Amino acid sequence: MYYPDELVEEVRMKNDIVDVVSGYVRLQKKGANHFGLCPFHNEKSPSFSVSGSKQMYYCFGCGAGGNVFTFIMNYENYSFAEAVKMLAERAGVDLPEMEYTEEVKKREGRRSRLLEVNKAAATYFYYQLRSPRGEVGYRYLAGRALSKETMQKFGLGFANGAGSDLVQYLRSKGYADDLIQDAGLAGFDERHGLHDKFWNRVMFPIQDINHRVIGFGGRVMGDAKPKYLNSQETMVFDKSRNLYGLNFARTSRQSNVILCEGYMDVIAMHQAGFTQAVASLGTAFTSGQASLLKRYAKEVLLAYDSDGAGVKAALRAIGILKETGLSGRVLRLDPYKDPDEFIKNMGADAFRERMEEAENSFFFELRILERDFDMTDPESKTSFHREIARKLCGFAEEVERDNYMQAVADRYHIGYGNLKKLVFSYAAQTGFASPAQRPKSGIARKKATPEENRKKSQRLLITWITEEPGIYPKVAKYVTPEDFTEELYRKVAERLFEGLSRREYNPAAIISMFTDEEEQREVAALFNTKLAELETKQEREKALHDIVYAVKKNSYEYYSARLGAEVSAINQVIAGKKALEELSKTHISLDE
Ligand code: CTP
Ligand code: MN
Repeated sequence: MYYPDELVEEVRMKNDIVDVVSGYVRLQKKGANHFGLCPFHNEKSPSFSVSGSKQMYYCFGCGAGGNVFTFIMNYENYSFAEAVKMLAERAGVDLPEMEYTEEVKKREGRRSRLLEVNKAAATYFYYQLRSPRGEVGYRYLAGRALSKETMQKFGLGFANGAGSDLVQYLRSKGYADDLIQDAGLAGFDERHGLHDKFWNRVMFPIQDINHRVIGFGGRVMGDAKPKYLNSQETMVFDKSRNLYGLNFARTSRQSNVILCEGYMDVIAMHQAGFTQAVASLGTAFTSGQASLLKRYAKEVLLAYDSDGAGVKAALRAIGILKETGLSGRVLRLDPYKDPDEFIKNMGADAFRERMEEAENSFFFELRILERDFDMTDPESKTSFHREIARKLCGFAEEVERDNYMQAVADRYHIGYGNLKKLVFSYAAQTGFASPAQRPKSGIARKKATPEENRKKSQRLLITWITEEPGIYPKVAKYVTPEDFTEELYRKVAERLFEGLSRREYNPAAIISMFTDEEEQREVAALFNTKLAELETKQEREKALHDIVYAVKKNSYEYYSARLGAEVSAINQVIAGKKALEELSKTHISLDE
């Protein structure tokens, strides 16, 4: 962390979380908390809660959570330092120049210089397109039915026919040669020196979700090769973690995204009102991009080219979506090649119909697979059925698998019983797929392994204390931070207990101890474990007793296993044994 703790804390306290989040999410007060629709996953009924007293948010649906910094980091895709900076400005807190280490200073400096030079280049291209020299580009884009507003919205530009105009321009603005080259805007060779990389192309600036230009794609005028030329990856341009159009698509508030292959497709879709369209960046769709999409949508509609390459790419994308836990459907665009051509010829309404009819991705896969088999030949047909059975084993969940078996049996006229037998004989060899691993999303979905149960009682105890700090003295009689055997939990407990022993209670500040978004999220989850709703005092006392006992017992076992290996283990074991004996005789009273 580069700002002093006290200052970070001041910024946090001056930005009430309910106020800040209200700027992004419509919240409604319900009991002690505020609720709204989670901005980090798509949902219909609100499970996103913001607590004014804890100064934290937590989503019971997807497990997103943290304090006001986490929220801004997550929503705006900022680093911790950027979030602190933004909130400091919001609250009028002056920040000193950051206490960067030399290395960080260099790296951050380089990053922002790269973004600057990209922005300058985008501005240059933009004006070129609108100048007489760029007329050929402008006419080209207009000829592809893009309106002036659309060209403006996407910041489209033009790179001149030859020479090194951009390099000259950037030099005149004071940018150093090596920066221009590192940004992927120029190449170098002995004969020409530093020269423009993009010639005679309409330019598509590629923006990150905060609308910062991170790279470029350029389409050649006419039929020269390569048709598209893209910036290489740089410190600010990670092709596997950004998507073209996502800066607009993420606020479209649709439950689906439309995944296209090309920049022109995305632009045509947006112009036609489908502002949820995105495309990968001249490379194949990646799992990093899939998890990015998962933040904004439940379902992905694939609008890939209808040619062989497009189908192959779609099949690959389906696999990736499935691994990520997103459902996919495939749009039929025939008789046109891609969404751009479809929209131009058929219009938005026809496209909307195709969206409704989009094919379930599993059936799409089977339909493509079927082409390789000859259904009039019993041998080939059988092979096809075997292949289907093998694919059906990929459904981990029994209900889903069974639904698909029935649907497939109907569709391909296979007897359900026969198909089922075939599926199970495959499963006997290879097993069914294991349930899709949900990305780190809270506690609710995790399996109750003994390991998980041990962690759970530790989490329950921490949540209970943050909800009712009054129980701290009763807990502290038996439990110390060392009893939290998870490292992250122990760090949190140390801070929490230390504060409470001075009658200070400030869970949201504890989250700022961690600058990593994943850790912040985990700490927030720690403060938001779902406590059972207990009616009577007896029930509550019994529950607390059981939790304390479970935590203590786990700690006792943990340190017993480390006797001889860790010097302090012996003390923990002795204290643990004593506390457990005492706890098995007494109950914990919740009376003041
Ligand atoms: N692409 C690329 N390099 C190429 C060709 C394509 O990087 N030589 C990428 C670009 O990101 C492009 C996408 O693949 O946007 C789709 O390519 P393609 O289907 O060939 O282009 P279209 O979008 O149909 O382009 P246009 O309509 O401009 O002909
Ligand atoms: Mn096209």
